[in-house]
Parts: sequence; structure tokens; C-alpha cells
Amino acid sequence: MELAVKYIQDKIKDFKPEVGIILGSGLGDFADGFESCAISYNDIPGFERSNVQGHKGQLVFAKIKNKNVVMMQGRYHFYEGYSMQTVTYPVKVMKKLGIKTLIITNAAGAVTKEFTPGDLMFITDHINFMGTNPLIGKNDDSLGTRFPDMSEIYSRELINKAENTARKLNIKYQKGVYAAATGPSYETPAEIKMFNLLGANAVGMSTAPEATVANYCGLKVLGISCLTNYAAGVSENPLNHQEVIDTASKGKENFKNLLLEIIATL
Ligand code: HPA
Repeated sequence: MELAVKYIQDKIKDFKPEVGIILGSGLGDFADGFESCAISYNDIPGFERSNVQGHKGQLVFAKIKNKNVVMMQGRYHFYEGYSMQTVTYPVKVMKKLGIKTLIITNAAGAVTKEFTPGDLMFITDHINFMGTNPLIGKNDDSLGTRFPDMSEIYSRELINKAENTARKLNIKYQKGVYAAATGPSYETPAEIKMFNLLGANAVGMSTAPEATVANYCGLKVLGISCLTNYAAGVSENPLNHQEVIDTASKGKENFKNLLLEIIATL
């Protein structure tokens, strides 16, 4: 990890990131248009090649609303076959670069039928249904403790700020629990019924690993889902990836404006 941190610091010189943002499906271009420095994952020691369609796979450093921000344009997904270590490695590197806050975004399916595709949801908690935990393995004591508390992964203070910002901008939002499944297949209607019974409001294939590791390393986390579709069985319609991309893309402007204003409040 020291190699990665050193490699990046050599490139960004005296720029000290305070805020990290993981840009999820459809949101990647949030990073475009700021005067910035971009470093491809392929060049950073310890980062693996990222290959999801539509993601650039780079860290982008920029000053936004007077804050020094590092953005992940593209993330590693467990369903691509990457290990949990690879999926969460960038979070640890961003921590070592000095960030205090991590904003994690994603596209997710709505489990709660009162929610509407296109809504944004602030994540209040998650259910890790991926069948493994990113902290399994030798503990790195320089990052966190062996048995970290997870009672407030998603900072209430940040949720409050996000809610105030959404209200100010007149952007509709929900709050709820995110269930993380491995994918890559979408869930079955029976699985979604189960998630609903367990208290989940949305379902997706990311975020829980990164949020777990971020909380373990002492970062304040804000999680925002763009609800791109009804999860399987919540509506009659079958699911398809194009719908997810299209809805994420329609909600993009709201999402971008919200992110900008949230950064201003940090
Ligand atoms: N399930 C899992 N992941 C998702 C979904 C979904 O319905 N929509 C967007 N990402």
C-alpha cells in the first residue's frame, strides 16, 4: 500500500485530498469538467485492471467547492471476480492519502414499493448478503482494529447534511437500508421478498464492502443510491441493465447538483 500511496503522492504533489467519492453506475462523468489530475488504476501499484463497460477506471483529483476531492471513476465489483481485497483496496489507499470522508454512490433496485425509480436514497445502514467480509485476513493495525464496531457505518451527521441539502435543492429523496447481493444476476422475486422481510429498502451489488472498510478505518461515510428500477417481483416488469443505465442517466443532473452542494457543506 505504501507503494501506491507514494506513487500517487508523487503525481499530485502537494494536493491533499480530504474527501473521497466513489462514482457509481451512470455517475462517472461527475468528475469530468473539473480542472484535475487523473491517474489510471492500471498505473497504480496494487490496483487491478478495471474492466466494467462505461467506467474509466481512474482516480481523479480535483478541487470542488473549495475542497480537495479524490474521485474513483469506476469501481471494482465482486461479481467481476475480484477479491474483496481488490474491491476495497482503493478505500484503504484513499484513507492513507488523508481523506476523512467517503461518499459512496451506486445504482440500486427499489425493494420498497412506495419508492419510485429515479428517486435517490440515503443509505442508513446495510445488510451484507455477499457471503463474505472484506476484513477477513490478517489485520492491518495501522488502519483499524480486528473487531471493529459497525453500529453507525453511515454517519447520521452526514445523512442530516444530505437531507438538508436535498430539501434546499428540492430534490426528492428516500432513506433506507441497502442490501448487498453479489450479482451479477439480478435477484429472484423470492430473494427480494426475503430482503423486504429482513428490512431492506434497496438492493445492489456494491457499496457494502467499501463502506465496511471505510468505517473500519475511521472514515465518515455517506452512501447514496440512485434507485434505477423496481427490484425483481416488486413490479411486473423483467429487469434489464439498459433500464438501470437509462434511469441512472436521467437522474444524473439531480445527483450531480446534490453531490456538489453536499461537498460544499463538508
Ligand atoms: N438489483 C441489484 N443491483 C442493482 C439493481 C437491482 O435490482 N438495480 C441496479 N443495481
